[in-house]
Amino acid sequence: MSNKITAAITAVNGYVPEDKLTNFDLEKIVETTDEWIRTRSGIEERRILKGESKGTSDMVAPALTGLCEKRGISPEEIECVIVATVTPDMVFPATANIVCHKAGATNAFGFDVSAACSGFLYALTMGAAMIESGRYKKVVVAGGDKMSAIVDYTDRTTCILFGDAAGCLLLEPSENGYGIKDSLLKSDGQGSDYLKMKAGGSLRPASHETVDNKEHYIYQEGKTVFKFAVKGMADVSAELLERNNLTGDDIAWLVPHQANLRIIDATAQRMGLPAEKVMININRYGNTTAATIPLCLWEWEDQLKKGDKLVLAAFGGGFTWGATLVEWAYDGK
Ligand code: UT7
Repeated sequence: MSNKITAAITAVNGYVPEDKLTNFDLEKIVETTDEWIRTRSGIEERRILKGESKGTSDMVAPALTGLCEKRGISPEEIECVIVATVTPDMVFPATANIVCHKAGATNAFGFDVSAACSGFLYALTMGAAMIESGRYKKVVVAGGDKMSAIVDYTDRTTCILFGDAAGCLLLEPSENGYGIKDSLLKSDGQGSDYLKMKAGGSLRPASHETVDNKEHYIYQEGKTVFKFAVKGMADVSAELLERNNLTGDDIAWLVPHQANLRIIDATAQRMGLPAEKVMININRYGNTTAATIPLCLWEWEDQLKKGDKLVLAAFGGGFTWGATLVEWAYDGK
């Protein structure tokens, strides 16, 4: 057996705000129905981070503190924190720096990754490479988004989809082969027109005009994104299985990005996986962008066993998409 270092996931944690926004609440805000939202997306409710002066770091930091408690380590032992987000506290500095400060990870360096709904998989792949290099022993990979900060609650085509949450995991070296086994990541900037925030960047800085035109909110051409997502997420997951000589039978769990139940179903079907092997919590949290995948791992942690093979898959703005093969490193909690 080779003693190549792999990056094992050794703990996972999540954070969801208490306040719920249900489909019935949305019926009172925009022209929609609970039935339409449930059948088109699978969503029933989402969580919203309320309160003055609260940003994404206020969800990632408690998730990170809880992660350290679960693993029985001090935040000071962490060497690096990578935060995937499209709703950073500020354009700069990086939210990861603020998280490190708030959680007492004073010896860690931190940076953000911007890859929308695939951000967590991109960050995980980078974190794994850092561990595999042998140079780092404790890397935290987090995904967090306060989507309510960029949702236009007068636009019924987007406001029904998104919620706020954060999740994170700890990567440590394993010599037994557990952890991140393979990762297939893709991006295509031709998709940038279909899902974006139009203003606030260097191309179109904030102005009275951009505010009046509501250009600081999510803009999405849902149907187009849907079409690309169904194909992209299923294709990349199937390709990952194929290049690792695996079939759906070898996979214990599919951990899909939670954007739309119909996209998740199409991916599972393509991989030959029955519904019992698919983690789904979109009904309770909606699309939390970079947080969906760690949030699923956190909620299903009890049921995971050492040696289980998991496929993590995502598709999102950019376009970005990808799939990661993981061999789970521990039993239950
Ligand atoms: O995570 C990032 C990646 N994002 C995604 O993967 C999202 C991908 N897109 C989707 O999930 C879906 O496109 C949506 C859930 C956003 C929309 O579902 P759809 O089946 O594609 O609906 P649609 O946009 O084609 O709209 C169908 C109809 C339209 O009316 P007409 O033109 O047929 O008269 C919409 O105006 O439904 C209408 N509609 C609504 N009706 C009630 C759109 N939003 C709503 C709403 N309530 N909230």
